Amino acid sequence: MTFTLRDAPIGVFDSGVGGLSVLRHIRAQLPHEDLIYFADSGHAPYGDKTEQQVIDRSLAVASFLLQQGVKAVVVACNTATIAAIKALRARYPELPIVGVEPGLKPAAALSRNGRIGVLATERTLRGEKLLALREQVSSATGATFLLQPCVGLVERIEQCAMGSEPGDATSAMLERYIAPLLAQGADTLVLGCTHYPFVQDAIIRTVRAHTQEAVTLVDTGDAVARQLARLLDAAGLRREANSAPKLLGYTTAGVEALAIAFAGLLDLHPPVEHVAT
Ligand code: DGL
Repeated sequence: MTFTLRDAPIGVFDSGVGGLSVLRHIRAQLPHEDLIYFADSGHAPYGDKTEQQVIDRSLAVASFLLQQGVKAVVVACNTATIAAIKALRARYPELPIVGVEPGLKPAAALSRNGRIGVLATERTLRGEKLLALREQVSSATGATFLLQPCVGLVERIEQCAMGSEPGDATSAMLERYIAPLLAQGADTLVLGCTHYPFVQDAIIRTVRAHTQEAVTLVDTGDAVARQLARLLDAAGLRREANSAPKLLGYTTAGVEALAIAFAGLLDLHPPVEHVAT
């Protein structure tokens, strides 16, 4: 069997375990692809870093993934996409790169009253790219976006504290961030950070404590996987089902934390290696 670029793996990265919420959609959409997941947990969170720091980390991680021979990169992190996707595309103009942005457009289409809460990191919400997107979608649809930075939430999720008990520290944090959005009439909440789908049950419980009205949660993981499939097809890079797909994890922190996240969040048990990138 000859090896072609089509058989090369796809690199997926995030500041930590959040990108696993995107990886699960990629596995569902592209079941034959080899995947490398890179958790930059040794440098998480990205959300309180400067734009330049996030750009530097994203370039370092992409360079590592390319050394592993990837054929495409998925930036499974809103913060890194908003801050660094331009720099990544400038550095690697030939490489298919897919990013993830808070789903403002789908939220505007789904909202009944045009009042939309956006939960994301501080860095994402201050990014020029996000502010331009808000401006564009607001003027096209008349929607109002209520931007809510969720300081500290990524750290809770990195520690596997998913708010499973009402009143625990993660649930209290969600209450603090979500209650004001509901009080302002938001009927749609954008999960603008790939870590947040892992606390979706706690978010729904928080919403239910305030209102019985329908509140829609918007997550763009599935759209990202579909965009990746389109790019691979356009470049003739989709892998055929000729052998079982491989999955490998890398982390800049302890291997155990990523192995636990794979097992606990996705019921997967891939080999995980530490890297000092
Ligand atoms: N999962 C990342 C995102 O989507 C979290 C960023 C962070 O580490 O603060 O923005």
